[in-house]
Amino acid sequence: MRFTFAAMNTWYYISVWLHIIGVSFWLGSMLFLPLALLPAIKNNPDRANLMMETGIKFRFYGYITMALLLITGIANIFLRGIKVSLDFFLESSYGNLVIVKIILFLSILAIGFWHDVHAKKRLLSEVHNRRFKMVARWSGRLMLLISLAMAFIGVILSRGG
Ligand code: HEM
Repeated sequence: MRFTFAAMNTWYYISVWLHIIGVSFWLGSMLFLPLALLPAIKNNPDRANLMMETGIKFRFYGYITMALLLITGIANIFLRGIKVSLDFFLESSYGNLVIVKIILFLSILAIGFWHDVHAKKRLLSEVHNRRFKMVARWSGRLMLLISLAMAFIGVILSRGG
C-alpha cells in the first residue's frame, strides 16, 4: 500500500539536508578512524593516548549526531506529509523500513554503550585492557556495517520506500 505525499516544503528539504549532513559526519568518521587515523599512528609511541583522546572527542559529537539523525529522521516522515499510524508502520513498505531503521539505530546506541562500559573498566587490569581493545575493534566494525545498512535503507525511503 503506497501513501500519497503532500507537496514538498522548505522544512522538509531542511530536515533531509540536516539528515544528510549528520550522516556525512557519522559515516565519514566511521571510515576515517580505521582507514586513516589508525594506520597513521600505528607506530606512534603515544598511540594509546591519541586513540583515547580522539575517541572521547568523537563520542561527544557522535551522540549529538545520533540525536540529530533521530530528530530529522522522524521529522522527514511527518514533513513528507505521511499520515503516521500503526497501519502505516505495519502495512506499508515505507513503514516497515522505518521500523527496521529504528531497530538498527537502537542497536548502534547499545553497541556504543557496550564500548563505553568497557572503556571505563580498561585501567582496572591488563585483562580489562585487552578485553577493551577487542570490544573497541568489534564495536567500530559493527557500527560501521549497521550505519552503511541504514544509509542504504535511507536511500530507498527517500525514493518512496
Ligand atoms: C546512523 C543513522 C542513520 C543513517 C546513516 C541514515 C541515513 C540516511 C540516508 C543516506 C538517507 C537518504 C537521503 C537521501 O537520499 O535523500 C536517509 C533518509 C531517511 N532517513 Fe535516515 N539515517 C539514519 C538514521 C535515521 C533514523 C533514526 C530515522 C528514523 C527515525 C531515519 C529516517 C529516515 C527517513 C524517513 C528518510 C527519508 C527522507 C526522505 O523523505 O527523503 N534515519 N537516511
